[in-house]
Amino acid sequence: MEHELQSLEREARQELAAITANSQLEEFRIRFLGRKGQFSTILRKLGSVSDEDRPRLGQLANTIKKEIEQLFEHRQEAIRQTASTAVDTEARLDLSLPGRVAEIGRLHPVTQIMQEICTIFENLGFSVAEGPDVEQDYYNFEALNIPAHHPARDMHDTFYVSDSILLRTHTSPMQARIMETRQPPLRVIAPGKVYRCDSDITHTPMFHQVEGFLVDKQVSFADLKGVLTVFTQKMFERDLPLRFRPSFFPFTEPSAEVDIACVICGGEGCRVCKKSGWLEILGSGMIDPEVFRMVGYDPEVYSGFAFGLGVERIAMLKYGIDDIRLYYENDQRFLSQF
Ligand code: DAH
Repeated sequence: MEHELQSLEREARQELAAITANSQLEEFRIRFLGRKGQFSTILRKLGSVSDEDRPRLGQLANTIKKEIEQLFEHRQEAIRQTASTAVDTEARLDLSLPGRVAEIGRLHPVTQIMQEICTIFENLGFSVAEGPDVEQDYYNFEALNIPAHHPARDMHDTFYVSDSILLRTHTSPMQARIMETRQPPLRVIAPGKVYRCDSDITHTPMFHQVEGFLVDKQVSFADLKGVLTVFTQKMFERDLPLRFRPSFFPFTEPSAEVDIACVICGGEGCRVCKKSGWLEILGSGMIDPEVFRMVGYDPEVYSGFAFGLGVERIAMLKYGIDDIRLYYENDQRFLSQF
């Protein structure tokens, strides 16, 4: 009988420990502690043990029963508490609160303007081409009529990777790359990143340009002017006077820098246009016969124009931004305005 009591105790402890729900508790109570439960059954057998053993076994049985009853109560309390914390948490959940709004990303203003520029030219029949940022000296300079030791190289503040490899300083190498592999007529724009060792409020070491060029028979300066006039009208959404200033680029002849009437003061003269009433927006010209010769085109048959514009600068003029570095500081307050 002693053994029976001990194994019953073990069994009861194990079962109690595994109980997690009220329904299981009740089942346990009936099976072990109830009037027809296992403890009662054993206690009833006390009548048939010897007088000598009865008091000791009786006491043992009672102790064990009390212990199990206590454990049962603890378990009951524990389960009651878990249940009430669950109810509490549920009560504290306010389902009427507005949800957290996810921040939706947007395109960087430079990307937006670059896409806008591309769209305008695509609508004029230009196709878009992209080329490598890490460029050969040949395409960046040589093929554009800028041989070694040419003074024009000094203006480019080039990042060299090796003697013959560099980070492209402009998107003009795309002229040579495209012409080398295709035949006229050509109408192409090439957007992308360019790099120069330069940094202040109007220069960042990396910035964006869009190169454009058109090659065909009998292309004239008037075609260049026509295309750029349409471009500036679309870009700035108004009729802006254009001004061509004679300039020099080794890969165009003649060359011109193009100004638009100041978008801030309309030509009156202000701080942004330095009182001149004009803003420079791009470099351009008629493609130099030497460039055609290097890609195997006959300059007697073909002519063409080219232009290169700075995307950050266009965006600054369009949005009235006065410090180019704002584009690259990633301040959400600035970026989220566009
Ligand atoms: N590549 C020149 C620069 O970065 C800009 C330029 C000037 C491009 C005249 C042209 C051009 O295509 O015809 O300064």
